[in-house]
Amino acid sequence: MINLAVLISGNGSNLQAILDAVDSGDLPGARVALVVSNRKDAYGMQRAFQHGAPVVYFPKLPYTNAGRPRADYDADLARIVQSFDVEWVVQAGWMHIFTDAFIRAFPNRIVNLHPALPGTFPGARGIADAFDAYRRGEIDHTGVMVHLVPDEAVDAGPVVAQEVVPILPDDTLESLETRIHAVEHRLLVSALRQLLG
Ligand code: GRF
Repeated sequence: MINLAVLISGNGSNLQAILDAVDSGDLPGARVALVVSNRKDAYGMQRAFQHGAPVVYFPKLPYTNAGRPRADYDADLARIVQSFDVEWVVQAGWMHIFTDAFIRAFPNRIVNLHPALPGTFPGARGIADAFDAYRRGEIDHTGVMVHLVPDEAVDAGPVVAQEVVPILPDDTLESLETRIHAVEHRLLVSALRQLLG
């Protein structure tokens, strides 16, 4: 079995897509061996509990309050993830940028989902930034990508899968988000199937 760790910070709908794919046989040979959240209120942890996956809540605040660098947090989290014999780390709505202290523990085995096309709208507001650009008349579509995280660059690693998502004249930010999340759920599972072979 290939052990996956899925890292979340919120709703966990992409985690749910992975859990459903494991249950339905769409990710043969894969298991969600660990779910990590850095947010106490992340609903994704409930989804993990319901699936029966081990859950670790690992906030960064104690490190910040102790004046410890983010590299300490990253190195400690890497050791926790390694202790679950994890082969692939999937950042699915994970709102934390790793330093090399984590990345070097999983060389070319970290996958990130980002709700924008390669080279566009990096960071935490990818969908809102695309919607704003659309309203300024600068773009007529956005998209979703799944990429590897080989280094500390944000939302910029080798692309594993990408898909264009049209923006429609009567779209609101919410309707665009809904359309993008539906693409994410499908693209992430197919990208993982591709990577896991
Ligand atoms: C998704 O758009 C993800 O790409 C972004 O956060 C959103 C929340 O995803 N990083 P989820 O429902 O928590 O999986």
